[in-house]
Amino acid sequence: MKNFTIAIHGGAGTILKSSMTIEKENAYNSALQEALETGFQILAKGRSALDAVEAAVISLENCPLFNAGKGAVFTHDGKHEMDASIMEGKHLNAGAVAGLKNVKNPVGLARLVMEKSEHVLMSGAGAEDFARSLNVPFESDDYFFVQQRYDQLMEMHQSGKTALDHTPEKKFGTVGAVALDQNGNLAAATSTGGMTNKKYGRVGDTPVIGAGTYANNKTCAVSCTGHGEFFLRAVVAYDVSCLMEYKGMSLEQACTHVVKEKLVALGGEGGLIAIDAAGNFSLTFNSEGMYRGMRNSAGKNVISIYT
Ligand code: GLY
Repeated sequence: MKNFTIAIHGGAGTILKSSMTIEKENAYNSALQEALETGFQILAKGRSALDAVEAAVISLENCPLFNAGKGAVFTHDGKHEMDASIMEGKHLNAGAVAGLKNVKNPVGLARLVMEKSEHVLMSGAGAEDFARSLNVPFESDDYFFVQQRYDQLMEMHQSGKTALDHTPEKKFGTVGAVALDQNGNLAAATSTGGMTNKKYGRVGDTPVIGAGTYANNKTCAVSCTGHGEFFLRAVVAYDVSCLMEYKGMSLEQACTHVVKEKLVALGGEGGLIAIDAAGNFSLTFNSEGMYRGMRNSAGKNVISIYT
């Protein structure tokens, strides 16, 4: 049996132990472990990294604690507009969706865009029509209503700000997974509700291949979380891959350089998870914390929140 590894994240930001109850911390830890386990078991059966990252992200999308799928934050108009993407590193195939309403699992639709359309990125009503044509599950607005998220919107309305944060924790909400399977193939997937109080069709880095998500068997698989505007401008996920491919950096060197130097210089806060073709992993962030976890075939299993 060849080595296999999976890593996941559930968002980064100012996540302080002092502002967390034991119950809340346990809830986050068990949701992260469940997503990790879901992906890991797929890899252990010899299935693809693509299947593993999709399943792990669906598990996080179905959990109201994270800003994606069921737990997606509210837009200025009190709706949910979700973004997601997925990519596999063998042939560099990718699929993505943006500004999606009421689709239960945006990452599943991103995969269908990759596999059942001739496109890479579909948005809004067109993407929803595509989903209907394939009988993809939709949910009512009630399914996506989470009281805490609504309170965050009301707070943002009062302050007039737009925020990716889950105030007062200032947590950047996005979920993602990266994996290496037993055949040596890499894959990455990312999903988000974006920013609370966002307006006018705002789209962040998550559905943009190369910014929020990237996978290439020659280098690595990357899924990002953070303030999307900065991750777009820094083309973060592809930059990590490029530093490995063209400058010969190790995965850790490339991730540290991009997240802790280049992003910081731009003023961008957040982090990423990455795996290389040898199964090395990096969970790197420049914020106070990042909900994260990894598990590999060598028996390493980590779940962590704070720095
Ligand atoms: N990183 C997620 C977003 O900015 O929408």
